[in-house]
Amino acid sequence: MKKDNTPPEILAQIRDRKNELGEELLILTHHYQRSSIVDLGDFKGDSFDLSRKAANSKASRIVFCGVHFMAESARILCAERQTVQIPDEEAGCWMSDMADHVMVQRAWNELVAVVPTDKVMPVTYMNSDAVIKAFCGQAGGIVCTSSNAGKAFAWGFAQREKIFFFPDQHLGQNTANQMGIAPDEIVIWDPAKPLGGNAPQALEQARVILWKGYCLVHTRFTIAQMESMRKKNPGAQIVVHPECTQEVVNLADAVGSTSFIVDYVTKAAPGSRIIIGTEINLVQRLADDHPEKTVLPLYESFCPNMYKISPGKLLQAIEQPDRNKVAVPTDIQAGAVLALERMLAL
Ligand code: 13P
Ligand code: SF4
Repeated sequence: MKKDNTPPEILAQIRDRKNELGEELLILTHHYQRSSIVDLGDFKGDSFDLSRKAANSKASRIVFCGVHFMAESARILCAERQTVQIPDEEAGCWMSDMADHVMVQRAWNELVAVVPTDKVMPVTYMNSDAVIKAFCGQAGGIVCTSSNAGKAFAWGFAQREKIFFFPDQHLGQNTANQMGIAPDEIVIWDPAKPLGGNAPQALEQARVILWKGYCLVHTRFTIAQMESMRKKNPGAQIVVHPECTQEVVNLADAVGSTSFIVDYVTKAAPGSRIIIGTEINLVQRLADDHPEKTVLPLYESFCPNMYKISPGKLLQAIEQPDRNKVAVPTDIQAGAVLALERMLAL
């Protein structure tokens, strides 16, 4: 794991500026942020907690310490008089880049040429651009996060026969498995191939169509790592994020969003041994926060995008209210808010 060498005077300056600004400023931090950032924040959470917090906040300025799609969702959900800043505009997400709106629109057009539109519900993972969320909102669909994907799928199935889920194949697969959907009713949509690489008949029969996207941080976890860690740590529990492959999820003792993982460790009895398959900054912080338990990484998997947010850049954002303001065009905002609010209402 990278060593955080932030000079103490930067941390002190951020604290001073926070005290001066009081309730005017809200600093939101995702669980994968480095500990110095989480310590400086007002609220930490998973992507769902943070979107809800942004939607309900009264602060005139929100500084979002996470990746771009998260800050963008906060921008969409809060009021016009509020501003949302991201300390580094380059903090993107590899997975969300795997489905741009041109690709998704093309896929949708191909799909609805085979299966009528009123039979397919588009569901996008929070890890996607605002344009994709807007597309879903306008097509009657919804956004979900890793903490409510099951509810979003159930919501979709209550209205339409099939779900088209993007961009994370694995979250979609794990959610469909948990709902008891048969393997032959799940197909993968490869955006590089016509009809996603499927025969029209397979799409007619499918209940779940999964975009072939993935998170590099979570697909690094393997069954071999799990077996080796279990051998070295008899009696340990393994808990993983649902962006891991279904083989890993099926072998784990528990699966859930980053907030679920935090709760799991917090509620475990002293002396427990827990092995975690998610981003290393969260695992390391849980280990530091719970010395009475043994918390180990399944493997040290690091998200460089999340790490782009540093205390120095946070200080710049606080000191310069116009720096890196997140903006979403009005027409996109209008569609995206529909899909996000449907999620918040689940
Ligand atoms: P959470 O929804 O669990 O916060 O996860 C977001 C994410 O990007 C995981 O890689
Ligand atoms: Fe994106 Fe994966 Fe990083 Fe999450 S961990 S922000 S999905 S690249």
